[in-house]
Amino acid sequence: MYLRIPLILFLVATAAPGPSDASMLARSSESIVRSAHRLHTRAIKHSAGLARDLRIAFSGVRLEQPSAAGNAKVYCVSSPNGGLNAPPASNPRPTSPAPSQPANGTAAASAATPSATGGSAAPSASLPASAWKLLQAYQGNTFFNGWDFFTGSDPTNGQVTYVDQGTAQAAGLVNINAAGHAVMSVETTPTVSATRQSVRITTQQTYTGALLIMDSVHMPTGCGTWPAFWSNGPNWPAGGEIDIVEGVNDYTNNQATIHTNAGCNLSGTSGFTGTVVGGTNCAALQTGNQGCGVRSQQTNSFGAAFNSIGGGVYAMQWDTDGVSVWFFPRSNIPADITGSQPQPSNWGEPQALWPASGCNPFTFFNSHSAIFDTTLCGDWASGVWSATGVPGQDQSCAQRTGVSTCEEFIRNNGSAMAEAYWEVSYVKIFQTSS
Ligand SMILES: *[C@@H]1O[C@H](CO)[C@@H](O)[C@H](O)[C@H]1NC(C)=O
Ligand SMILES: *[C@@H]1O[C@H](CO)[C@@H](O)[C@H](O)[C@H]1NC(C)=O
Ligand SMILES: *[C@@H]1O[C@H](CO)[C@@H](O)[C@H](O)[C@H]1NC(C)=O
Repeated sequence: MYLRIPLILFLVATAAPGPSDASMLARSSESIVRSAHRLHTRAIKHSAGLARDLRIAFSGVRLEQPSAAGNAKVYCVSSPNGGLNAPPASNPRPTSPAPSQPANGTAAASAATPSATGGSAAPSASLPASAWKLLQAYQGNTFFNGWDFFTGSDPTNGQVTYVDQGTAQAAGLVNINAAGHAVMSVETTPTVSATRQSVRITTQQTYTGALLIMDSVHMPTGCGTWPAFWSNGPNWPAGGEIDIVEGVNDYTNNQATIHTNAGCNLSGTSGFTGTVVGGTNCAALQTGNQGCGVRSQQTNSFGAAFNSIGGGVYAMQWDTDGVSVWFFPRSNIPADITGSQPQPSNWGEPQALWPASGCNPFTFFNSHSAIFDTTLCGDWASGVWSATGVPGQDQSCAQRTGVSTCEEFIRNNGSAMAEAYWEVSYVKIFQTSS
């Protein structure tokens, strides 16, 4: 990460203000930081556009700095040795945190292997067959089969080292717990000199059009964390990006976002329950990669509040009508989801919807893989370390922790990482047979 600083400084220094600078200035610092994160993500992943993407990304960061003192230092720095005392060397890593309510319908899960048969369980007598057929399920003891462990440096500048599967297993960062759930944790060593180990996994299965369902009983939360469950396609932004679950620090309300090529809009604000944050032009390269974000109004859709209710189910439907995201708290999961015969038309208004009328879902998205990651600090979580005002963040993390930077907090407080884990019951990918 430190090695990148000269590159970043060079690009900031040489970035010419572009036509979008005025709009960048007008945007919230959070959006700009997110923009930087997104473009940097792509820049790393897709080297073809590297220089251009980084210029756009970091001109955004540069413009953001004067306006928000607390956000001025977005990147990791080699700080003076922190004065914090290390917490006891206990390892609170959740090997088998009991879910407050085991999910129904998982009895068959532990024995299941990821299947690519295209088949699905026979509909039970009470559940009509769904038009969506199971393409792939990740659950139980074989959950981690069929995922690639990403081991590059974090494209979002987070304070993590993403490790391979063997390293993650040896370090206890991934396991299947007693409840049959997949756990993905962050290193809880009391103090570290730079990064903490974490995991980022991507499905080998790709899909164009899908109903993606993810049941999680716990997600990473707390100051310094930045978890996401999302997907993207090749040649970003041509293949598109769909962020299903994402947020930082102590946020309690999920933000779902799409990022695309030019020509895709969020057309209208009806038909979904969330609130538009940022703009309605989803074109990454026209907007400093702000994307079309929608924040849930459900105060238990993310973070500690999500965990306190035993989590729930996220569903993302990508079909000819558009792209939609639903969240169902544990106590309110439709039986057709639990029974694996999903009927999205019965689920009511989604949390977020990008209708086909403004964004053709088969022009702007293709060949996606689903991804889980947990990073720490980085462009977004660090950028809003001193900020308040987002649901769950009445107090800033700087106030809450008494530590002035995200990076210092993460280096010195492994015990605060005890809640920085995903505990996932299953991920299922459905497709229509037609
Ligand atoms: C599981 O199903 C039973 C029977 O339908 C129901 O009583 C119970 O509340 C369900 N539990 C959860 C966690 O959904
Ligand atoms: C997207 O919005 C732009 C600007 O308002 C408009 O010119 C364009 O036609 C829109 N495209 C679609 C597909 O709605
Ligand atoms: C670590 O973080 C936890 C949770 O924020 C806090 O209670 C504790 O005081 C912190 N410890 C140190 C040494 O900063």
